[in-house]
Amino acid sequence: MPQNLGWHPEQFIISNGGDELITLVSEAFLEPGDEIIVPAPTFSEYEFGAHLMGANIVTVPLGESYAFDLDAIVNAVTERTKMLCICSPNNPTGTYLSKSVLHHLLGILPKHILVLFDAAYSQYATADDYTNGLEFVRAGYPIVVLQTFSKIYGLAGLRVGFGTAPESIIQHILKVKEPFNVNALAQAAAAAALHDDEHVRLSLEVNMQGKTQLYRSFRDLRLPFIESMSNFVLVDLGSGAKSVYEQLLTKGIIVRFGGIWNLPHHIRVSVGKEEENSVFVHELTEILHHHL
Ligand SMILES: Cc1ncc(COP(=O)(O)O)c(C=O)c1O
Repeated sequence: MPQNLGWHPEQFIISNGGDELITLVSEAFLEPGDEIIVPAPTFSEYEFGAHLMGANIVTVPLGESYAFDLDAIVNAVTERTKMLCICSPNNPTGTYLSKSVLHHLLGILPKHILVLFDAAYSQYATADDYTNGLEFVRAGYPIVVLQTFSKIYGLAGLRVGFGTAPESIIQHILKVKEPFNVNALAQAAAAAALHDDEHVRLSLEVNMQGKTQLYRSFRDLRLPFIESMSNFVLVDLGSGAKSVYEQLLTKGIIVRFGGIWNLPHHIRVSVGKEEENSVFVHELTEILHHHL
């Protein structure tokens, strides 16, 4: 979070969750027939914003191991391209775009293309070469960084997030924002959360331990998975993935079935506390060994 000095209020816009920021950016920048580039699989709201405005979605598949494919992204640019949506860490893969690659990308993209950099899960990312994009806002590139209080801060139900961008971009987005889009309760909670460093530290620690626990279990079960910079892990269960998902549901364990992202062999599991992860792994093992 940009608590450090040197930022100006004019570089921020507060929104009713990160979702609203995506809609606002779409409303402010997109027109019918425009194109947005979306590396996929990813979060669905970018498409929603484009649909709303009659813009066309140009999907670029992620590359090997779900890494961002820089060449494919650049090759997808046309004169109608208005926006590029980068979710880093990406939902649902947990993969990320490194700082040097983002820098390179921003350097070669035509300047009229706005990069919507979704850093909703940024506080979970621990890789040395991760960037939450803010340094590129500071440097004046055409980039909007999305952040939210729904993830590591745990305030999803209150609906508050924000965007950070060069002032001229924020001014443009403000034109489509309703004046009272974030309620007073959410504002108060967000302001308090920004100072709760201990909560963030602890959540990150629990998440890192949980990922280690899940990775170990997946290796024991010989299940391929993607190492994640986020608070969920995408794991490959083969053709029985949907059945496993449904059986987990009957045990009260809710994971995401990958079919919604066109990944019918995968589930995405949120990282829980140690005990929750253990229950999940126990039930998963039971299902894989006895009910498939
Ligand atoms: C990648 C990503 N971006 C943004 C959001 C928006 O979250 P919210 O609207 O709760 O701030 C989500 C929520 O699931 C998400 O996964």
